Amino acid sequence: MSDKSVPFVDLTRQFEDLEDDFVDIFKSIGRSGQYVLGDALGEFEEKIAAYCDVKYAVGVANGTDALVLGMKALGIGPGDEVITVPNSFISSVGAIMSVGADPRFVDVKNDLNMDPNKIKSAITDRTKAILPVHLTGRPAEMDAISKIAQQNGLVVLEDAAQAIGAMYSGDKVGSLGVLGGFSLHPLKNLHVYGDGGILTTNNKDVYEEVLLLRNHGLKDRSTCVKWGLNSRLDNLQAAIALRKLEVLDILNNRFREIAAMYREELGDIVEVPVDTGHEHSVYHNFVIQVDQRNELMDYLQREHNISTAIHYPSLIHTQPAAKSLGYVEGDFPNAERIVKRMLSLPIFPELTKDEILHVVSAIRQFYK
Ligand SMILES: Cc1ncc(COP(=O)(O)O)c(C=O)c1O
Repeated sequence: MSDKSVPFVDLTRQFEDLEDDFVDIFKSIGRSGQYVLGDALGEFEEKIAAYCDVKYAVGVANGTDALVLGMKALGIGPGDEVITVPNSFISSVGAIMSVGADPRFVDVKNDLNMDPNKIKSAITDRTKAILPVHLTGRPAEMDAISKIAQQNGLVVLEDAAQAIGAMYSGDKVGSLGVLGGFSLHPLKNLHVYGDGGILTTNNKDVYEEVLLLRNHGLKDRSTCVKWGLNSRLDNLQAAIALRKLEVLDILNNRFREIAAMYREELGDIVEVPVDTGHEHSVYHNFVIQVDQRNELMDYLQREHNISTAIHYPSLIHTQPAAKSLGYVEGDFPNAERIVKRMLSLPIFPELTKDEILHVVSAIRQFYK
């Protein structure tokens, strides 16, 4: 048993790096008396829109709500179908279900993202949208997906929850479809201290509708023009996100550096993710694909105190809640094969070189 250890993630390290700034932010927001829909939120929305290269951004309560409110704004609801993938965090599909629409799954490629070749056969006369997920911070094949959407009169909603800063052919995710949904959950590359989310769009109608819907459908303090939700990003969290936005590219580069080290050191013994020419991944997760995955995971924890994770161990179409959708095991062979082989290694900007090398050496020892 090793005396070193590597956590899967340690959020306290980043907090400590920025703690003094956060104390100042807390004082400044506290003293401003603006806690909901304040100036910091407005400033964050402007800056994040510029960062994602879109006209508009709306701060909402979480990434799930960004997708829910976006679909509501587009009028997607009961009777409609949305094409998505079975290997994501449950909320990509929870969002579709909660507007009353039906998800239609398509299989993924080896890179864990939507396989554009599988989309056409999933389109019916009820299909309204395609919702690719940029899983692990890696952009989905947006050219091919957008082309199919265009040919079939569908809109593309990007689930960019894990991928802030990622690019496809030089364009930021969140700017590639009619809207993008981002999460500011503590585990995301840009995160706040609680829940938070962002919707991005170039579409003025969607923007204005989501502004209304996130605030009870209130046009002004006393006039409700639509039934909406209470789904606003807190002013304090927005102020924190603004501070973090200043260092986001540095943090994302660190994710990419760590990924490059793992790739370099492990690429000859396990399957590692490799950016293709037009992809710029931000490696929210670094997922290797291996034989004897469960044994490796146990070994790393037991013999080397290294924590790893599986994102996500159960495919969505096999979840108890998905029973009524009528899918069965075997429907998505690629996703079902990969789910048994994938393992997420520790990756976060403050991970040290020593820790990375400990992970590398333990994996090499296992396969020796
Ligand atoms: C792919 C994906 N979609 C949607 C979400 C939902 O975001 P949130 O947890 O902020 O609601 C998450 C994050 O948890 C996610 O990873």
